[in-house]
Amino acid sequence: MCGIVAYIGTKNAYPILIKGLKRLEYRGYDSAGVALKVNGNTEIYKKKGKVSELENFCADKNTFSNIGIAHTRWATHGEPNDINAHPHRSMKGHFTIIHNGIIENYERLKKDLAAKNYSFYGETDSEILANLIEYMYVEDGMRSAEVAVRMALTRVVGAYGLVVMCNNEPNKLIAARKSSPLAIGLGEGEYYLASDATPIVEYTRNVVYLNDSDVAILTPDSFTLKTVQKDEEITPDVQRIEMSVGELEKNGFDHFMLKEIFDQPRTIADSFRGRIHPETKEVFLGGLNEVMPRIAEAKRIIIIACGTSWHAALIGEYLVEEYAQVPVEVEYASEYRYRRPIIREDDVVLAISQSGETADTLAAIRLAKEKGALVLGICNVVGSSIARETHAGIYTHAGVEIGVASTKAFTAQVTVLTLLAMRLARVHKAISDERYYNVINDLMAIPDKINLVLEKHEQIKQIAEKYKDNDNALYLGRGYLFPVALEGALKLKEISYIHAEGYAAGEMKHGPIALVDSNIPVVVVAAKDRYYEKVVSNIQEVKARKGNIIAVVTEGDSLLRDMVEDIMEIPKSDEVVTPLLAVVPLQLFAYYISVSRGCDVDQPRNLAKSVTVE
Ligand code: F6R
Repeated sequence: MCGIVAYIGTKNAYPILIKGLKRLEYRGYDSAGVALKVNGNTEIYKKKGKVSELENFCADKNTFSNIGIAHTRWATHGEPNDINAHPHRSMKGHFTIIHNGIIENYERLKKDLAAKNYSFYGETDSEILANLIEYMYVEDGMRSAEVAVRMALTRVVGAYGLVVMCNNEPNKLIAARKSSPLAIGLGEGEYYLASDATPIVEYTRNVVYLNDSDVAILTPDSFTLKTVQKDEEITPDVQRIEMSVGELEKNGFDHFMLKEIFDQPRTIADSFRGRIHPETKEVFLGGLNEVMPRIAEAKRIIIIACGTSWHAALIGEYLVEEYAQVPVEVEYASEYRYRRPIIREDDVVLAISQSGETADTLAAIRLAKEKGALVLGICNVVGSSIARETHAGIYTHAGVEIGVASTKAFTAQVTVLTLLAMRLARVHKAISDERYYNVINDLMAIPDKINLVLEKHEQIKQIAEKYKDNDNALYLGRGYLFPVALEGALKLKEISYIHAEGYAAGEMKHGPIALVDSNIPVVVVAAKDRYYEKVVSNIQEVKARKGNIIAVVTEGDSLLRDMVEDIMEIPKSDEVVTPLLAVVPLQLFAYYISVSRGCDVDQPRNLAKSVTVE
């Protein structure tokens, strides 16, 4: 959450910073700001609202500078307004900082600083950090900004991605990281800093991802890496980033979310490409090779995730239990990390995360590692914290996902989980050849089938138009399609602000049916699978109470066509890969409702893409 961009070099920093903030806006968008060195002074411009508001505000200002820091905020401490926006300046004006993360002991630090006659203009923990650095600096005889930053950070409890400018050392940036990502792009006589590589990729492909406790000291022609605790230089690990600038553009689509929904035939293929042997059809997961013997011996698999990734995890649970015959538990990372769970050395803990930065998932990983479990990751963002902190893992290869509502990352996760389940099923000899080849062949046919679903987008748009003014919706599904119902409801609520609940269809009688009347649309995911008859009965129950039913059905289902108000058809497929098809009309349905309600599809209110605070 929150996006950080900074530049030091010989170019004009301002356009680089604004463009970078726009790339990072998915991380938070309630206020934005920039600090620049203009004619020897540190000028701070900041504004409530999106980056475009900051840009308008700066239009008549002198913004030429070869160094600068910038921030787009997702508020934690203090309401979103101009004052609480970053950058923050210390009381005596020596330091200007941008900060991502939470200083957990900020109340204590604030009290200590107040006792030393420090006063504060806003409500943020970040302003306290700026002042703590200044206090250390002044106490130390204003010797070194770097020492002041390192000393201050030894007193901080919490998370930070931090970039600091010091007035007395004008041609220098100091950056530090703990639990909040920070990447440094290496140019010729210049450095680009950002919360992720998306603002960097068009300038350089050589990147250093800071590790926890790293402190980087940058001038236009030097890069020194140390740690908070040790005044010793360490060698940075330079990595190549592979993403293309094209991935960061909308490519003619109105929104990133729509583009990402339409990306899915390709991204799903990218997720299984090279992982299924062309002749034998055996699944090969290179990232798990070394740990496969230990996975094979695991007594159970615990999957931890949040939000949409948690929905993918549920599909993973059904797959692995049914086909590999290994017990699986699926946990919300935010619950798991605090509820003193039983974790044994023969457990495998599998973390699923698009961003690879979700704070709760990361904390659960650390807990599982402490207890001796083998910890695996399924991540989308290459080089992310979760990817680095797990023992082994599988990348989803969905490419950069910018729309805050996850779409292609979900289907890529389900694809990878299907591969993993099939691999484990083979390892445990728990699946028949016939079943195995059916699943693999149908998985490989999914991209073409999704194209057929996407071709029907106009029809889905018309259905969305009918239901756009409803305030509530129910989503029902069974078996592999129950998590799809949950995911469909989450998509609708997060981007259209319509209250939507997903339920296992069999649970309807145990409460939610009380909501059903002629005013509520009930979306039923009713493909032809082993649960079909039961779902049809559930549909009858809703109809008997005058509910309006929108059903996701298998092509040619004349029974449901005649029974329900609206249908969205998907091609026939093996039931275990049907979630990959059934979720697509629900993504489109949510998308078109959001657009017709005038909502901000890509940046829905109160949300952020990467949830780096617990
Ligand atoms: C919903 C959505 C969120 C994320 C959740 C976990 O569309 O995107 O629910 O799935 O915040 O994020 P990751 O997968 O990055 O750990």
